[in-house]
Amino acid sequence: MLGPVILAASRSDRMRRLISAAPVTKQVVDRFIPGETVGDIVPIIKELTAKGLELTMDVVGEDITTPEQAAAARDAYLALIDRLRELGLGDSVEMSVKLSMFGQALDGGHELALANVRPVVEAAAEIGTTVTLDAEDHTTLDSMFAIHEELRKDFPQTGCVIQAYLFRTENDARRLADAGSRVRIVKGAYKEPAEVAYQQKHEIDKAYVRVLRILMEGAGYPMIGSHDPRLISIAQELARRAGRKLDEYEFQMLYGIRSDEHLRLAAEGHRMRVYTAYGTDWYGYFMRRLAEKPANLRFFARSILSK
Ligand code: FDA
Repeated sequence: MLGPVILAASRSDRMRRLISAAPVTKQVVDRFIPGETVGDIVPIIKELTAKGLELTMDVVGEDITTPEQAAAARDAYLALIDRLRELGLGDSVEMSVKLSMFGQALDGGHELALANVRPVVEAAAEIGTTVTLDAEDHTTLDSMFAIHEELRKDFPQTGCVIQAYLFRTENDARRLADAGSRVRIVKGAYKEPAEVAYQQKHEIDKAYVRVLRILMEGAGYPMIGSHDPRLISIAQELARRAGRKLDEYEFQMLYGIRSDEHLRLAAEGHRMRVYTAYGTDWYGYFMRRLAEKPANLRFFARSILSK
């Protein structure tokens, strides 16, 4: 019940102002978004890679309103990639980007987002890594998939995300499961209407397994984005049945969520990538994490009340 309310709040400017100004917000936010600058995040990157984990980096931000903000988002990723080049970490750290942050929703936004994301994909390729396009709400996806297809002409390893809760996703998975593709499957984190998406958890979980099967039996590289223990063991079983070796798929989880499981899977020899968000515009990302687990909201509320 609470999830949809929190997701609606994630789009409200008034709630953004209220929550951002709450006295303890920063402490709670840090659990999911452990830094604001490249300087803050480098020690985290070093710590996780030293433990045998890989990372995908998200400079938080979305729903920007000017082309200048979109250019700033591009530059923030380029600065991070420069730092990774200096650290020699291109082989274990990739980028996750939200095209809305690159201008997708502005006038002429499709072209603008493509023009902004391309230099990031080029710079990533120069240091030996990749970029994955995150999936946002369903109205943005045709544009995201078209940009993905365009980028793959020059950078075939550019990844994208598909969301199990959407009815369209099985077809997208069939189209995308070709040789060289990198596809992250997640349950889906936005508030979507019943015309386009499953609403019940058990329906979403069943759809996730159907999509996972398509990806595992296909020729691409599946990236399993989930913390759900049942789905993780189903993924391991489907990979085994499809005859995939340990380096022919990977698990991905969010920073701050089930961290012991990150280490357990890595210790079993799996590739484990931690989606690590940082930056100052954390509101939308943070609210989606609250919506996924109402206990997070109770913890947040208790911290405010105890102040
Ligand atoms: P589920 O929500 O059922 O959680 C399973 C268990 O994990 C819970 O019981 C709990 O223990 C733990 N858990 C999950 N979320 C938690 C939280 N917020 N706080 C504390 N514990 C939590 N979505 C999207 O729409 N577009 C995208 O591009 C991405 N990208 C992405 C990348 C990666 C690497 C991951 C892991 C996830 C995403 N997501 C996403 C988010 C995704 O759609 C989904 O909302 C979350 O992963 C939660 O779903 P689970 O599969 O973890 O299952």
